[in-house]
Amino acid sequence: MSTVTNRATSRPIVAPKLHHTTFTTLRLDEMVAWYENAVGLYPAFHGDQAAWLTNDEANHRIAFLSPPGLKHPVDKSHSTGVHHTAFEYNTFDQWLDNYIRLRDQGILPFLWLDHGITMSVYYQDPDGNGVEIQVDCFGNWEDSKQWISSALEFAENPIGSWFDPEKLVQARAEGLDFAEIHRRTRAGEYTPENIPTDIFLPELY
Ligand SMILES: [Fe+2]
Repeated sequence: MSTVTNRATSRPIVAPKLHHTTFTTLRLDEMVAWYENAVGLYPAFHGDQAAWLTNDEANHRIAFLSPPGLKHPVDKSHSTGVHHTAFEYNTFDQWLDNYIRLRDQGILPFLWLDHGITMSVYYQDPDGNGVEIQVDCFGNWEDSKQWISSALEFAENPIGSWFDPEKLVQARAEGLDFAEIHRRTRAGEYTPENIPTDIFLPELY
């Protein structure tokens, strides 16, 4: 059976915009600090049992609730729910520089994929939730939206091409530009030594 599909779906006539995601947590202060460091989300309000964070014009983009009575999840990696939230840089240099900045703090991604639409590195926050940090391969949403909807290349391999981010750092240092690095990544030139066998969130606890 073919896995290539792009099913037609009815859509709302007037669609609201995606605004924020809220997580429950037992590590409120740690989560606030991590998101501020990783993606520049600062608390618009940070109380004892909740915080609302933003890094753009919205009043908040990510919120955390920490009321009494919560417990940690069991086998989070293999449970349904949110796999990751994603943040996008405007340029390849900003994206790769942020990878280097976090790497130098000892914060490393656990997945590294060129999806064709974006080049993405995936981290875990202190609770183990996935956080994707990406850059659009086309430089604009119109073209990447068109590509994901129509490219056979995506339909046949929606997960994309693995890369070793350190090889990207080296390629840029050698003078290659984003388009060329993207092309070579898709061609398999920067494949990591160890390719993950699945995309489950690693179990942290
Ligand atoms: Fe994603």
